[in-house]
Amino acid sequence: MGEVHVLDHPLISDKLTRMRRVDTTSQDFRMLLREISVLMGYEVTRDFETIPATVETPICMGTFPVLKESFFTIVPILRAGIGMVDGLLELMPFAHVGHIGLYRDEETHLPVEYYYKMPEGVENSVIIVVDPMLATGGSAADAIDNLKARGCTNIRLMNLVAAPEGVALMQERHPDVDIYVAAVDEKLNKNAYIVPGLGDAGDRIFGTK
Ligand code: PRP
Ligand code: URA
Repeated sequence: MGEVHVLDHPLISDKLTRMRRVDTTSQDFRMLLREISVLMGYEVTRDFETIPATVETPICMGTFPVLKESFFTIVPILRAGIGMVDGLLELMPFAHVGHIGLYRDEETHLPVEYYYKMPEGVENSVIIVVDPMLATGGSAADAIDNLKARGCTNIRLMNLVAAPEGVALMQERHPDVDIYVAAVDEKLNKNAYIVPGLGDAGDRIFGTK
């Protein structure tokens, strides 16, 4: 089963609490999300493999670790996932970015795909799917279905806030994918919003409501 890593570092928790506040502006919300993404990225990448490389320092030759893989892809689920990209790119400026566009139908709460664009050869890359909210889990599970259908195997998921229902769906449909999250909240409400959550992440990032 996919492991759930709850990254409740005090700096992450404090920033998340500020994001939850209803009176936090879009400008601050975006800034906090970017900062949290840097902090979470440190843990999401912790198990990246290294291999020894021979290096000449100004003093002598030596053998030191370098990343084993060279092809990494950050995949935001549009729109809200975009808010987590810059923070991860700060840690991994060499990463590629692929996009999956999904929105939730307001009646059924099921995801509808409207965009898909990946770097060539994405199936050979280490993939981090990012989206602040894991509510029913439908959007993340469908996005990962799509990547797997194209041959991707090395996938991890980074969310800010999850509902237990979303975690359960992901573990059922993608037991090979580890989930990294800053908090697992209490439940979903009747509109499939996370409670207590932080509202509509896309609207809060982009100031659309
Ligand atoms: C939000 C969020 C996730 C999805 C989570 O996106 O960013 O993608 O809902 O819900 P789920 O786990 O129940 O699928 P939304 O559909 O509101 O689109 P947006 O990012 O364009 O606002
Ligand atoms: N999408 C959001 O943006 N927020 C939620 O709480 C659930 C889905």
